Amino acid sequence: FNEKDQDLINLNTQAAEIFTHLLLNTDLSTEALKYLVETRKLDRATITEFQLGFLPSSWSLHDFFDEKKIPVEIQLASGIISQYDDGSFHDVFSNRIMFPLKDSYGNIVGFSGRTLDKANSAKYINSKETAVFKKSQLLYHFDVAKQAAKLSQHLILLEGYLDVIAAHKVGIDYGVASMGTSLTKDQLQLISRNSPTLTIAYDGDSAGQNATWRAIEEAKKFPHLQLEIVTIPDKKDPDEYLQAKGPAALKQIFEEDSTSINDFAFEYLKQNRNLENPANLSDYTNDLLKFLGSHSNPIANDLTLKKLSDQFGLSRSVLDQSLKQVTAPD
Ligand code: UTP
Ligand code: MN
Ligand code: MN
Ligand code: MN
Ligand code: MN
Repeated sequence: FNEKDQDLINLNTQAAEIFTHLLLNTDLSTEALKYLVETRKLDRATITEFQLGFLPSSWSLHDFFDEKKIPVEIQLASGIISQYDDGSFHDVFSNRIMFPLKDSYGNIVGFSGRTLDKANSAKYINSKETAVFKKSQLLYHFDVAKQAAKLSQHLILLEGYLDVIAAHKVGIDYGVASMGTSLTKDQLQLISRNSPTLTIAYDGDSAGQNATWRAIEEAKKFPHLQLEIVTIPDKKDPDEYLQAKGPAALKQIFEEDSTSINDFAFEYLKQNRNLENPANLSDYTNDLLKFLGSHSNPIANDLTLKKLSDQFGLSRSVLDQSLKQVTAPD
């Protein structure tokens, strides 16, 4: 890092410390702490470990930085202080629960802030992109997860911060989150350099399942990365599933209930199709064959073709023939 980058990281680190202090040790954060402890079932140890915090609306981070003699240029460059058109300063994350975002080495490079009153504003907002915060190159919790992956040989990709924390609660520290963006090439590079296997465990709702499909399409460009898919039941996200079914159930899903990408595609492509209708069945079959042809795993594909043939009474030799056509170079 150059000196300017280091200034930003120092400022973020100080901010994170004060956010945690304000959350845990002052009566300005009673509502936020109650929300985290009672509604989200986080204890103080977990809050401390993940360095969660709160920025009360009655408090001014800008004044705090001024007292610490931090130049206003650095405050603005960090993206956590902003300026109105009239020149006055304000705290971007006022009245939000704060999640520090770290690079692969554990430096705090930005923040995400969760609102307490969902109705009024975006649920989460992030720091703007800065010299040190490039959202598409980061994965939440990667600094810890890459160490855990050395032992587990797995990384689990989740949608949200609280899903990563849910995994941690059941003893799984190799969870990371892509923070609401679709999975990028840079993020996949980080993953594939640190783990032979990636388990995608996005939310069980339709947005999460669509995101899973897109993530698979990206991840297939990394042929050495072994992919597994977890679908959280009942359209829940991992954190909701933990609250509904308990730690043993979530742990089991993560560690034992993953399926192959072919099995995911087999079910996913059925969506919005009435497969009793021959035209729909034929579209479905062609889409699935296209998927099978887009990666090379002959044994997995053999199993899927068998399932396809058995489940819909399709001729295996016609399926084999069609797969060859799909994969043949034009
Ligand atoms: P979700 O909508 O699934 O949120 O978005 P969540 O993580 O379950 O939120 P909680 O449990 O209600 O707190 C998944 C992720 O997408 C990003 C965040 O990173 C979030 O964790 N996101 C979501 C945003 O960046 N902005 C938003 O307004 C919403
Ligand atoms: Mn495995
Ligand atoms: Mn979601
Ligand atoms: Mn979610
Ligand atoms: Mn959630």
